[in-house]
Amino acid sequence: MKTDILVAGPFYPPQLERLDREFNTHKLWEATDRAAFLKERAGRIRGIATTGFSGATAELMDALPKTEIISCFGVGVDAIDLKAAAERKIIVTNTPEVLNDDVADLALALMLMASRRLAVGDRFVRDGKWLEGTQPLARKMSGKRLGILGLGRIGRAIAKRAEAFDMPVAYHSRKPVEGVQYRYYGDLAALANESDFLVAICPGGAATRHIVNEKVMKALGPQGVLVNVSRGSVVDEAALVKCLQDGSLGGAGLDVFEDEPRVPEALLAMEQVVLAPHVGSATHETRNEMGRLTVDNLLAHFAGHPVLTPVG
Ligand code: NAP
Ligand code: 8YV
Repeated sequence: MKTDILVAGPFYPPQLERLDREFNTHKLWEATDRAAFLKERAGRIRGIATTGFSGATAELMDALPKTEIISCFGVGVDAIDLKAAAERKIIVTNTPEVLNDDVADLALALMLMASRRLAVGDRFVRDGKWLEGTQPLARKMSGKRLGILGLGRIGRAIAKRAEAFDMPVAYHSRKPVEGVQYRYYGDLAALANESDFLVAICPGGAATRHIVNEKVMKALGPQGVLVNVSRGSVVDEAALVKCLQDGSLGGAGLDVFEDEPRVPEALLAMEQVVLAPHVGSATHETRNEMGRLTVDNLLAHFAGHPVLTPVG
């Protein structure tokens, strides 16, 4: 008999098909009455496949008291109530490493797009403005100083790429990383002050909420570029708008926002801002690997084996 699994949100179709083959799946997003849907299945569901967007609340765990494992399609687990899961002895897994390259590639792309004004240039050509004159000059990226907030798996992949652009790299995290040659700053504003680009790639959640605040953005300065590929909650978005409007921050490349998919109107109007719709890992190759790992963790658990990538 197949094990019953709740699928909390839609994910990469080929791997969703695999979930359907391996498990008896119950797709929450198809429910018209969510409470009734969960109540009807409460005695059967033993696992949850979720996403970084759908997460899992304590309320969901209580509604499905037989849950043994929550397998997250994504490395960031800030949308999962980890304390509630631990209290209920529920295993949580995520998808580390397999998305490092894509997210790091996107960070570099946003850095280049913001500094070289590539989105502005694209619109310039499409709108026929090139026929009337040349696009205003942009700013160089190679050789500039890069500060990284969170030198973890993805942060290190970003640093490696930045080295190819001859960019001196420094970083901030709660403690220095052993065995790296990059300069460590215990204070984020001090790092920003010594950086031309600041890339946020730490986890979201209460501990990092708004740590990129007005002071940090002002320290980055009028020619500085902030790139956020972490979580929208990490950056104080109201302060970001203010600093960009008054010119105390030069530009921004943003893949994540505080209230996705809603983006502040003010940012939409700014030429010094490049926007992406949370696509750090959004390639077929990587989404397939993330989906594979999400399903493999569930299969391992229900076969009585240790999970492959536990959180914590
Ligand atoms: P990771 O390997 O765990 O690295 C996280 C880094 O953040 C570590 O260097 C950690 O160092 C630092 N950090 C954690 N808490 C901090 C705090 N309170 N203050 C300062 N630094 C802190 O994680 P990862 O795999 O690189 O992923 C990082 C995050 O990227 C994910 O959690 C997710 O939110 C985001 N992400 C976004 C996308 C996207 O599509 N845009 C895709 C994938 C991941 P210390 O523990 O020493 O502080
Ligand atoms: C995903 C992400 O888009 O892994 C993460 O933390 O933010 C992205 O890879 C998201 O989690 C999809 O579920």
